[in-house]
Amino acid sequence: MPSPITPRSLQTLLRSVSSSRAFASSFEVSPDPTHLNLDYAPPSYDAHSAAVYPNFITEEESKSIIKEVSKRMKRRRFEQGHWDSVIVGCREVELVIPNDLPSDSSTSNSDKDSPPLFVNAIRRTRKHLEAKHLTHSESIRWIPCHAIDLSADGRLDAHVDSIKFSGDIVAGISLLSDSIMRLKPCSEEWKSSDANHTASSSLQVEGHVDLYLPKLSLYVLAGMSRFTYTHELLPSGSMFEFTNAESKIEGVRVDRGRRLSVIFRDELRTEKK
Ligand code: OGA
Ligand code: MN
Repeated sequence: MPSPITPRSLQTLLRSVSSSRAFASSFEVSPDPTHLNLDYAPPSYDAHSAAVYPNFITEEESKSIIKEVSKRMKRRRFEQGHWDSVIVGCREVELVIPNDLPSDSSTSNSDKDSPPLFVNAIRRTRKHLEAKHLTHSESIRWIPCHAIDLSADGRLDAHVDSIKFSGDIVAGISLLSDSIMRLKPCSEEWKSSDANHTASSSLQVEGHVDLYLPKLSLYVLAGMSRFTYTHELLPSGSMFEFTNAESKIEGVRVDRGRRLSVIFRDELRTEKK
């Protein structure tokens, strides 16, 4: 028999609902504009095409993701040169969850009762991206997440994620280390490339946009930031500049150790018939 609702149990219930991340994420979470430095952005840059959400992931979720990724990566070595040397000193693994399997639906019995925290974190992030960053009305289909374990001396150089393999959104959760991501305008030639990721040095427009990515944050690249800007991680020890409350420019030095990221990409939509 269900127990009667007493004022005390109602209070406990309300407290647990309001502290639930799933609840909070769909109503309250908003990007922090101070984590985006637009001071050097080209005039045509669309500031709505990139966002950083600090503390999007809880410590508990982070631990669960790190544990799962470590398990799946056990026998993988750090590679020196990957994807045409765009990423150096990294290990990569797919982080498949039940929703990603064709035979399974999100309500599968296997984990309905208590899915592991990392599964919840991935589902919550996808829901958030669908609600806040999806511009078209068609239902989105997600590619299984990729986890990237970048060693302290690893590098992630400027590239655009292949437009032949994935769709409108590239988003990432950053764990273990803080870092700075730089976006730079790129030429059209990226678009004609077949490679998974492509590096290029011929830039047409000057300027850049920096994203401060503290651990536990979520960043999102869509529109212009996803398609016509490259992204890269700045070397450890780089400064993230921002304009403080007194309109003065301040800098934070960002030292990066080992970094673990979980990358979200949507499937490429095929043309409508
Ligand atoms: C990538 C990439 C960024 C990150 O894998 O293509 O850009 O945050 N990763 O790890
Ligand atoms: Mn990328």
